[in-house]
Amino acid sequence: MVTEDRETQIVQAAELIAEVGQTVVFTGAGVSTESGIPDFRSPGGLWSRFDQADFTIDRYIASPQARQKHWRFLMAGGLFKNCEPNAAHRAIAELEALGLLDCIITQNIDNLHQKAGNVPERVFELHGNMRWIRCLDCGNRFPLEEILDQSGASAEAPPCMHCGGILKPDVIFFGEALPEEILEEATRRAIRCELMIVVGSSLVVYPAAYMPAYAKQSGAKLVIVNLTPTPADEMADLVIHGSAGEVMGRLVAEVRRRFPGSA
Ligand code: APR
Ligand code: ZN
Repeated sequence: MVTEDRETQIVQAAELIAEVGQTVVFTGAGVSTESGIPDFRSPGGLWSRFDQADFTIDRYIASPQARQKHWRFLMAGGLFKNCEPNAAHRAIAELEALGLLDCIITQNIDNLHQKAGNVPERVFELHGNMRWIRCLDCGNRFPLEEILDQSGASAEAPPCMHCGGILKPDVIFFGEALPEEILEEATRRAIRCELMIVVGSSLVVYPAAYMPAYAKQSGAKLVIVNLTPTPADEMADLVIHGSAGEVMGRLVAEVRRRFPGSA
């Protein structure tokens, strides 16, 4: 990994995108902090305010207190706020519009890639999506808004309207298996790609964090855009330290210059 000044790195990354034609983008919570959603491990992040141990699936099922804590966490995390995509999401959506995006593999549950314009078929959500609430007993799924209307200002999700069972956001808790087909397809795309760009992830949670390694081991180039170092930096071809919005915005502007015919 060579460190040059950021501008040079951004031009190099743009050349890689133009060269390979189809890029896989892997995102974490750092791509959404500029939309007002705190990430997990930065100073002041969600895990500095809430205890991760409370957010295992076993604890959630076993204790109403844990469920109340979780509901407050999701409210505090702003995941229920109407957050808007930021410049980083828009840049990634433009890569798709330019025909240069294979897919997005995301750990995020905030639906902001889709809101920015990426088609759902190209967004592989390894940790689920906050738009749905699922009943752990009868398996029915409900739109989040419906449950929010029902729960009002109460401290926890109401019981399932079909069976009275426990409702849980349709996202992956610690100790829960990731959605098999999505993980399989994301792995296939990571292995097949020629370029993976990681944006805003500490790359410490598995199996999601295997994706950059799969890409690299299969011969792809790896670019990491992050505010802070990650364990994958050593194997990356380019590590661009900076804010996702600014770097991705500059990066796609450089790519767009290489495709004059594009809008
Ligand atoms: N621009 C670039 N990088 C940023 C920005 C930003 N604006 N804001 C934060 N970052 C970086 C941080 O420096 C950090 O390295 O993004 C990374 C976010 O890391 P985490 O908070 O650990 O988030 P993530 O990697 O997505 O966590 C993975 O952990 O708790 C679980 O399920 C949760 O999906 C989550 C998983
Ligand atoms: Zn039910």
